[in-house]
Amino acid sequence: MEKAPFEVGDIDLNEVACETEKFFSAFSAFEVDLSTSITPEPLPIRGDRIQLQQVVLNLIVNATDAMSEMPRAERKVTIRTTRIRDLAEVSISDAGPGIPPNKLKEVFEPFFTTKAHGMGMGLSIVRTIIEAHGGHVVAENQAGGGAVFRVTLPLAKMHGNATDRQVKAA
Ligand SMILES: Nc1ncnc2c1ncn2[C@@H]1O[C@H](COP(=O)(O)OP(=O)(O)OP(=O)(O)O)[C@@H](O)[C@H]1O
Ligand SMILES: [Mg+2]
Repeated sequence: MEKAPFEVGDIDLNEVACETEKFFSAFSAFEVDLSTSITPEPLPIRGDRIQLQQVVLNLIVNATDAMSEMPRAERKVTIRTTRIRDLAEVSISDAGPGIPPNKLKEVFEPFFTTKAHGMGMGLSIVRTIIEAHGGHVVAENQAGGGAVFRVTLPLAKMHGNATDRQVKAA
């Protein structure tokens, strides 16, 4: 990834999710079924739009890679956004083999890869970007199979809205 200056602006995580979905679909619709489930409420955050798109894109590419040996009809990726109290979450889930439980943390280490031509840098970059935004990223396995990566970012505090009141009440 190029070293671009960190440009923080007011953005909506839902827009980041939708833009990245459109971008990926334009190039790789033949590889997987990509669907989105976007929460109807806005998810205002402060951050660098391009860097956050790269995060979502990295996670979609990994999800797609994980299913490359499965029949085309079974390759599904879902991008989901949701609000969890004062956090905005975007998650990317797949229908692949999942991640061995003892590797769920290790996958974020630089140079950890199980791919013949992988660099093992994608998730390390994802974590660096998200932590620079004051957020968190975790890998989990889904009960029904497949991996899910959950990215949470602090919702921007706007005066007088429900988010603000909840934060103060907490
Ligand atoms: N959705 C997923 N399902 C299963 N395993 C995954 C998934 N995402 C990541 N992994 C595992 O984590 C490893 C590290 O991922 P990471 O994106 O950091 O590197 P990479 O994809 O191997 O290489 P690159 O530098 O090109 O991204 C992968 O090689 C794979 O073993
Ligand atoms: Mg990767």
